[in-house]
Formats: sequence, structure tokens, C-alpha cells
Amino acid sequence: MENTLVLLKPDAVAKGVCGEIIARFEKRGIKIIGMKMLYLSRAQAAIHYSEHQDKPFFDELVNFIISGPLVAIALQGENVVKLVRTMMGSTNPLEAAPGTIRGDLATNIKNNIIHGSDGPVSAKREINIYFNDSELCKEVAYESLYKDRG
Ligand code: RTP
Ligand code: MG
Repeated sequence: MENTLVLLKPDAVAKGVCGEIIARFEKRGIKIIGMKMLYLSRAQAAIHYSEHQDKPFFDELVNFIISGPLVAIALQGENVVKLVRTMMGSTNPLEAAPGTIRGDLATNIKNNIIHGSDGPVSAKREINIYFNDSELCKEVAYESLYKDRG
């Protein structure tokens, strides 16, 4: 079982497509174990995107991600990191296949609607930026809600 961290970026919130994206995860049978809406601080944004700190687009990326509220979601499932990345589509929406989240809802690389962790190690690091352990729902009772969903 794996966890991953998804951000519905400020453009997703502004566009009012959070519900649609969350519904896609739910319909796919992926379990939500944590969710909150927040404004990211510049410091948190720099930590989140530290792997890109030397890239020419870093300042623009940070300015965008702090430009409005976002929704952070911790998801759990088998191979959920890869599954969510596949559902998201290519980083550049111009190359994202129709049917993917970016392919259906985004039009440019700066405002590409969604972030998903790129591996289990990043997922663990990123979930810790947004959630305390007590904010993640891992109870057995909660499992039973999902038992028939395949
Ligand atoms: P993300 O981290 O947001 O899930 O996206 P990703 O793995 O598909 O792409 P990544 O390489 O990690 O890039 C992070 C975000 O930076 C923006 N970006 N802009 N050439 C550019 O201007 C450029 N390249 C990347 C995108 O918004 C991307 O999601
Ligand atoms: Mg990335």
C-alpha cells in the first residue's frame, strides 16, 4: 500500500473544478486519507519545490502556487503514486492526453491544475509538509467504507 500527495493548485480552486477532480479519484477507488484547503506560505512553497530551486521557472512556480488557496489531499492505494500520475497526464497540458485531468482541464504548463508526488519517497516528504500524523485517517473502521469499491 502506498500514499501520495496531490495539490489542487490555485487555478483548480479558481476554476471550480476541485469537486470534479476529487470525484475522479473516488470513482477510481482511491482512498482519501487527508484533505484541507490552505494558503501555502512562500517558505512552505520553497520547501515543496526545493528540487526545482535552480530552474529558471522556480520564482514563477512559487509565485503561482502561493497566489491563492489550494487543496492538499493525501491519497492511499496500491501503486497510487503511478496511478495518480497517469490520471494527471503530462506536465505540459499541450501534451496531456484527452481523458487525463490536465488533458481535460488545463491549457498551459504554468497553470497545470494539479500536482502529484513523483515517487514514494517524495510522497512521504510532501505529505509531511501539509499534514500532521493526527490529520491522516487510517482507522480500520474507515477501511470498511471502501471494502466494496474494488
Ligand atoms: P508537479 O510536480 O506539479 O506534479 O508536476 P510534474 O512533476 O509533472 O512536473 P515538474 O517537473 O515537477 O515541474 C513542477 C511544476 O513546475 C512547472 N513547470 N514549469 N518549463 C516550465 O516553465 C516549467 N516546467 C515545469 C509546472 O507547473 C510543473 O507542474
Ligand atoms: Mg514534480
